[in-house]
Amino acid sequence: MDIVEGIDEEYVDDALRVAYDAFAEKFRIGFRNANDLIRLFRGSVDTANCFSAIADGQLLGILTFRTAGREFYRLNPAVVFARFSPLRAVLVLFNLVLLEDYTEPDEFVVDSLAVARSSRGMSVGTALMQKAEQKAVSMGKRTTSLGVIGGNEGAARLYERLGYKTTRTSRGFLVRLATGSPEVRRMEKPLVSGPPDAAAGRTT
Ligand SMILES: CC(C)(COP(=O)(O)OP(=O)(O)OC[C@H]1O[C@@H](n2cnc3c(N)ncnc32)[C@H](O)[C@@H]1OP(=O)(O)O)[C@@H](O)C(=O)NCCC(=O)NCCS
Repeated sequence: MDIVEGIDEEYVDDALRVAYDAFAEKFRIGFRNANDLIRLFRGSVDTANCFSAIADGQLLGILTFRTAGREFYRLNPAVVFARFSPLRAVLVLFNLVLLEDYTEPDEFVVDSLAVARSSRGMSVGTALMQKAEQKAVSMGKRTTSLGVIGGNEGAARLYERLGYKTTRTSRGFLVRLATGSPEVRRMEKPLVSGPPDAAAGRTT
């Protein structure tokens, strides 16, 4: 298995399908199925801002990240209106705005981590997380962070094993609307600091 920084265009549709399958509960308003996510983001994701796991020409998993000024899922309202009917475009945009979050300048956010069902439990997710952390260190970031939806204890265990701790639990109407779950845990891990790019390749 290779963990690659970025993703080849040829795997983007597969990545969006794996992401939809993993996070269908986050794409409820205006979305009908994985094809809608593909329709929305084909040609408009920033393929540099992710890591992909590939084996034998198959995409096993993807980790997308966000920093201040960089993201994988680029939200462009004009594209949404060009690809969906006006009503659905409004609903899709509303869904995406609900999922938007602020990013601190010294923060590296793991936006989403998704492994194809048939490849789970084989350390693909762990390997993607480790590469992402190396990237965060090389960018001079101070912390990596992510959100875990309530009830996703398997994923939370994986992050705890990697040294992440819960720093906040958000609840309320908007959380439920955005995620379909009553709560979201924010988990964080402090990184070994170093000058930008000097620490590339260092394992945290
Ligand atoms: C969570 C996820 C990314 C883990 O990827 P993975 O490649 O299976 O993870 P690894 O093999 O490196 O580590 C295995 C750990 O993943 C967690 N895990 C969560 N769901 C799992 C599943 N369906 N099958 C296997 N492991 C799972 C477990 O904690 C497991 O460790 P355990 O032995 O303590 O139970 C993957 O299960 C997935 O894509 N789930 C759906 C999307 C999701 O929940 N993403 C995280 C959002 S915060």
